[in-house]
Amino acid sequence: MSESLKVLVTGAKGMLGSDLCPMLEDYGYDVTETDRDNLDITNYKQSMEIISELTPDFVIHCAAYTNVDKAEEELQTALDINLTGTENIAKACAANNAVLIYISTDYIFDGNKTTPYLTTDKPNPVNNYGLTKLKGEEAVQKYCEKYYIARTSWLYGHHGKNFVETMIALADKPQVKVVNDQIGCPTWTVDLSEAIIKLIENKAPYGIYHTCGGGQTSWYEYTKEIYRLMNLNVNLSPCTTCEFPRLAKRPNYSVLDNGGLLRDWKLALKDYIELRVE
Ligand SMILES: NC(=O)c1ccc[n+]([C@@H]2O[C@H](COP(=O)([O-])OP(=O)(O)OC[C@H]3O[C@@H](n4cnc5c(N)ncnc54)[C@H](OP(=O)(O)O)[C@@H]3O)[C@@H](O)[C@H]2O)c1
Repeated sequence: MSESLKVLVTGAKGMLGSDLCPMLEDYGYDVTETDRDNLDITNYKQSMEIISELTPDFVIHCAAYTNVDKAEEELQTALDINLTGTENIAKACAANNAVLIYISTDYIFDGNKTTPYLTTDKPNPVNNYGLTKLKGEEAVQKYCEKYYIARTSWLYGHHGKNFVETMIALADKPQVKVVNDQIGCPTWTVDLSEAIIKLIENKAPYGIYHTCGGGQTSWYEYTKEIYRLMNLNVNLSPCTTCEFPRLAKRPNYSVLDNGGLLRDWKLALKDYIELRVE
């Protein structure tokens, strides 16, 4: 790898960005970290100016409106960030010949399949978050020729509010009930960061990739594994989605076929728990 390759990361202070940026540096990239305070992606002029000035080889676009339930009430804000913000970044990349890597989601699918989703399957989001992220994908494809769309799911990492930590915090409750009828792929930010960097390093063909943890599980089985690895004895029981209503509908089945790009979710979770700082 050439030492002078420049990468600009949006949303660098987020859960994924916080693990991705140091890893990019370890690989020898010249990394420019940006977030809302110094590059507001909803600002077209600022996006164009910063990217034109830096002329990065790659832009890894992690910035997003990520609150799935709140997006049901704040569609316009979610569109401003996930659609207009992505359009701004895509236009700036196209104008400056930068490769754009857009992080997308399993929630672009409706969950009606019973076998893992392929990159060629037709998206049909069932909530506003999924809709706005899909519109972001479409903007990337409209404005850029050189792009990777990396769809991921059920993300957890050391630098963000996430499901693993929420479940660990609940472990002292008299009873913990977790949904057992939504199936997906937990993904560790560290494994995702590696997969993104490998796409770049291997000069993979441009296009859509499914970069989620391997295998599949329900939220309930996932929680069971978290407690097992933590040696926590918890009164845990399964429940249905109907028993645990949320503002946003979720797909029942959002397993993505990752083509072997990332290892099994259980192996990743074990490493996360081992590294976890109490
Ligand atoms: N988390 C998941 O389970 C999951 C699953 C599938 C896909 N993804 C995708 O993976 C990517 C990374 O997710 P994440 O969990 O790391 O998200 P995150 O922790 O919410 O980080 C997103 C970052 O984007 C920033 N941001 C928001 N609006 C911005 C704006 N207008 N300009 C610049 N920065 C802005 C946020 O800043 P503020 O904190 O100030 O808002 C935050 O630092 C996202 O594209 C997300 O859609 C996530």
